[in-house]
Amino acid sequence: MAKHDIRRATRYDFADVMRIGDVYDGKDYLCYRYKSFLDDPNNRSYIYMVGHAVVGFSASFLIDGGQTLLCRSGRVKASFQGQGIFRTLKKYNVMYYTSSVSQVARLPQSTSINMVKEMTKD
Ligand SMILES: CC(C)(COP(=O)(O)OP(=O)(O)OC[C@H]1O[C@@H](n2cnc3c(N)ncnc32)[C@H](O)[C@@H]1OP(=O)(O)O)[C@@H](O)C(=O)NCCC(=O)NCCS
Repeated sequence: MAKHDIRRATRYDFADVMRIGDVYDGKDYLCYRYKSFLDDPNNRSYIYMVGHAVVGFSASFLIDGGQTLLCRSGRVKASFQGQGIFRTLKKYNVMYYTSSVSQVARLPQSTSINMVKEMTKD
């Protein structure tokens, strides 16, 4: 069985993260923001690996003076969805912040394409 692993995302992971798949129906902004996300001192981005393949990505930003951890641009390869990979990535990130940096009080959910479709259907 392939090894599952989580590590910090780097600039060199850009192409692999983009290959996770199209999200937001072709309106994905991560390709324009990826490098600035990684350069932001309030951001920690992680990737989820299965063997040598990048199958998940999550970016979390500490905002509101350290009280809120905002998760943005998360994604999991379609064939790996529904197996708890994103939950594990988020938990990993929250553990880092709550144990070493700050007293995070709020964890807002960012908008998914399914929520957008739900809100805009007539
Ligand atoms: C949303 C997505 C990342 C979930 O990945 P997954 O590995 O299938 O999810 P899991 O099996 O871990 O189960 C769902 C978990 O994701 C969380 N989740 C789902 N949509 C979310 C969102 N928009 N923001 C934050 N968390 C979200 C759920 O809360 C749940 O975690 P919980 O049980 O702790 O509440 C995946 O379906 C995907 O890539 N969708 C397309 C892109 C997208 O909509 N991304 C959301 C932007 S953050």
